[in-house]
Amino acid sequence: MHVTHLSLADFRSYARVEVPLDAGVTAFVGPNGQGKTNLVEAVGYLATLGSHRVASDAPLVRMGADRAVIRAQVRQGDRQQLVELELNPGKSNRARINRSSQVRPRDVLGIVRTVLFAPEDLALVKGDPGERRRFLDELITARSPRMAGVRSDYERVLKQRNTLLKSAALARRHGGRSMDLSTLDVWDQHLARVGAELLAQRLDLIATIQPLADKAYEQLAPGGGPVALDYKPSAPGEAHTREDLFEQLMAALAEARKQEIERGVTLVGPHRDDLLLKLGQLPAKGYASHGESWSYALALRLASYDLLRAEGNEPVLVLDDVFAELDTRRRERLAELVAPGEQVLVTAAVDDDVPHVLAGARYAVSEGTVERV
Ligand SMILES: Nc1ncnc2c1ncn2[C@@H]1O[C@H](COP(=O)(O)OP(=O)(O)O)[C@@H](O)[C@H]1O
Ligand SMILES: [Mg+2]
Repeated sequence: MHVTHLSLADFRSYARVEVPLDAGVTAFVGPNGQGKTNLVEAVGYLATLGSHRVASDAPLVRMGADRAVIRAQVRQGDRQQLVELELNPGKSNRARINRSSQVRPRDVLGIVRTVLFAPEDLALVKGDPGERRRFLDELITARSPRMAGVRSDYERVLKQRNTLLKSAALARRHGGRSMDLSTLDVWDQHLARVGAELLAQRLDLIATIQPLADKAYEQLAPGGGPVALDYKPSAPGEAHTREDLFEQLMAALAEARKQEIERGVTLVGPHRDDLLLKLGQLPAKGYASHGESWSYALALRLASYDLLRAEGNEPVLVLDDVFAELDTRRRERLAELVAPGEQVLVTAAVDDDVPHVLAGARYAVSEGTVERV
C-alpha cells in the first residue's frame, strides 16, 4: 500500500499542511527543527495509533489548539481509502473511514501499515524491556489488526487486577480485615486467558522473524552475527499453544500470589516479559558496541518489513533521520535493501545524507512549509 495524500491540521508544528505523495521514494529535506519528523510521525500514527517519539498524544497537538487531525488518502492495489483520525488528548480520539460515520480508532488499523526506522530504535537494543515488548506488540498488531483488541483487553484486565491487589496490600499493611480473595481468582483467569493469547502471538512472531533478522544482520554487517531472539517469560515454562500458555500463567500466578499481595502489583504476565537479543553468544544489551547495536536495531526493522511484505500488504517504509547516524558502508547497504519498497519516506537534514540509490521526489521542509523541489 502507499499514501497518496497526507493532510494535517494542528498536528505538532503544523497549523495546516497538504502533502501529495507518490509511490517510490520521497525525501523530506531541511534543517533541524523544521517539521520533517512531524510529517512522518503522523503517518506512523495512522499505522500504530501511537507516536514513535512520545508515549501520550498531548505533544502531538499543536500548542494552543485542542485537537489535531491526521488525514491520509491510501491506495492499495486498485482500492482507494480515506482514513481520518482526530486526536483529543484527555478525551477519546475519533476516527472515520471514507468520510462515513465514526468508527473506533482501532478500526482503522491495517489500512496504513508502516515500518519506521528512527534514531529512537537504538532503545530497542539498549533500552528497557518495555521497548522490546512494544516492538513485538506493534508488529503482531500490524500482522493481525484484531490483536489491538486483545492488547487493550489485557491492559484493562491488568489495571483492574492491580487495583484489587493494591487494596489487598493496603488492607494487609494497615492490619485491617483481610480481603475476600475469590474475586482475585476470577481476575487470574481473565489475565491468563487474554495473556495466553498475546503470548502465543508473540512466540509465533519471534519464531517467524528470527531467521529474517539473522539474514538482515548478515546483509548489514557481514560475518558479524549470528543474531538470536530469545523470549524471556515472567511465567517460566516451555509452553507454546494457547491452552498450555494459559496453564503456565495460572501456575505462575498461583506461585506469585503471596508476593503480589505484599507488593500490590501483578508480577507475572506478558507485561513483565522481555526479549533477549543475542549477538553471537552474548546479549546485545550491555555487550554490543554502538555500531553493532545500531545494526541490530536496523536488522529488526528490516525483518519486520520482510515479514509484512511476505504476508501480503506491503508497508510504507519510513526512514527518519537514520542515514546521518550510519557509516558509509551500512548507509549504502540499508539504502539498497529499502530502495525497491513500494513507498519509502525519508527525512534528512541535508541532501547529501540521502543515498544516491534513493533518488526520488524531494520536498524542502522549512518553518512549517513543505514544498516540492
Ligand atoms: N505540539 C507542538 N506544537 C507546536 N510546535 C511543536 C509541537 N511539537 C513539536 N513542535 C515543534 O516542531 C519542531 C520539531 O519538528 P521536527 O519534525 O521534529 O523537526 P525535524 O525537521 O528536525 O525533524 C520543533 O521546533 C518543535 O518546537
Ligand atoms: Mg527529525
